[in-house]
Amino acid sequence: MSAMRGEFSSRIGFVLAAAGSAVGLGNIWGFPTQAASNGGAAFLLVYLVLAFSLAYPALMAELIIGRHAHANAVTALKGIAPGPGSRRLGAATGGAGFIVASLILSFYAIVAGWMIAHLLAAMAELAGARATANWLVEFTLPRNVLFMGLFMALTVGIIRGGVSAGIERWSRRLMPTLLVTLVLLVGYVLTLEGAMTGLKIYLLPDFKALLSPQLIISALGAAFFSLSLGVGTMLVYGSYISDRENLPVLGGVVTLVDISIAVMAGFLVLPAMYVALHNGVDIFTAGGALISEDTLIFTVLPALFETMGFTGSLVALVFFFLMTVAALTSSISMLEVPVAYTIESSAISRRRAAAGIGALISLISLAILLNFEFLFGFVVSLTTRYAQPLLGFMYCLFCGWLWHRDSILQELRRGSPDAGNTLFWKLWPGYVRYVCPAIILLIFLHSLLG
Ligand code: PFF
Repeated sequence: MSAMRGEFSSRIGFVLAAAGSAVGLGNIWGFPTQAASNGGAAFLLVYLVLAFSLAYPALMAELIIGRHAHANAVTALKGIAPGPGSRRLGAATGGAGFIVASLILSFYAIVAGWMIAHLLAAMAELAGARATANWLVEFTLPRNVLFMGLFMALTVGIIRGGVSAGIERWSRRLMPTLLVTLVLLVGYVLTLEGAMTGLKIYLLPDFKALLSPQLIISALGAAFFSLSLGVGTMLVYGSYISDRENLPVLGGVVTLVDISIAVMAGFLVLPAMYVALHNGVDIFTAGGALISEDTLIFTVLPALFETMGFTGSLVALVFFFLMTVAALTSSISMLEVPVAYTIESSAISRRRAAAGIGALISLISLAILLNFEFLFGFVVSLTTRYAQPLLGFMYCLFCGWLWHRDSILQELRRGSPDAGNTLFWKLWPGYVRYVCPAIILLIFLHSLLG
């Protein structure tokens, strides 16, 4: 089978694709808004600690299992399971990842659709087509369905191309574009009046918030979501890495890129909020808390752009373009999970699988749009707050308890012969065996009971 499977053609190709999966709406929208409402730098600090101490080891678990099996998540987990009971558990975990990845894509495509609509609205505004611009930013069912469908079509189009001609090629184009766009926007926003107040909020920690369980749970969820963990995306991307590569280094680079972009997005979004305040836009809720999440991106920022006239429309265009690109490199990795499983376990071709599964997920998105009030928040928290950390826990269980330690070391040695003497190997096995599962469970139970 492995001869027929795709493979990333180069190290940088993998890094850009995996970082592309990791860097998404979670970094540019989720992280800064959560930091804004959870004590600024306090959240940043907890996030950094959790990302390196928990999310990175969990990411490594997925990459190592994937590269070892060179197969989709179900086959890979079944393959490393030592007995019939654990094989069933492996199949169930892989299968659950398939479903959760599809559900995440179903709400992600809706939000990404809004980003495309706002991008086009900025263009319409520049062209003087006010009525069209207004229609594009209004929350209506036809608009939501149209742009969700368009975004899903783009995602399917890339995944149909396969690993190197689809995922890798587009990640190579889109990731550098994203980085340049982000740097330009940060540079510009920091020159505006009011930005420094936002910067202070971001960089001066509110230590009272530091030990709040709510903050820690939010930061863990954010770190898992941001690194695309638990659902098998990183496992599948890991399965396309060549045996010559040094996995701990590659995983480290991906984690670093992901964290850096989230931190950098904080330098954009928080200052922008205070620029908005300076320009007369309200950024606090009735209760006095900072506005966050959807209200921030779709109300505060557009209101800010509006106060800036023609330049505002240009900046809006660049901002929503950035969001669309970030979303696309993530959504392709979500769709790849069910597609890889389908083509490897049946005779269906990649093109058909991508189109068929994309259509099915669009139907789920449609159901969410038709029952938006009830379903949207429910699907978001079910998948990102509960399912992702729990499935991450399962991957740690497989790497820490079920898969033989010697086989793991052998796998690492393929890409780096002296893997056994590295700091990674001294720390990581104990980490995935005890530390990660215990902390994930603790935080999880707390969030269930709280
Ligand atoms: N990491 C992506 C983000 O930060 O937006 C979200 C994500 C991608 C979650 C892929 C899960 C996934 F499988």
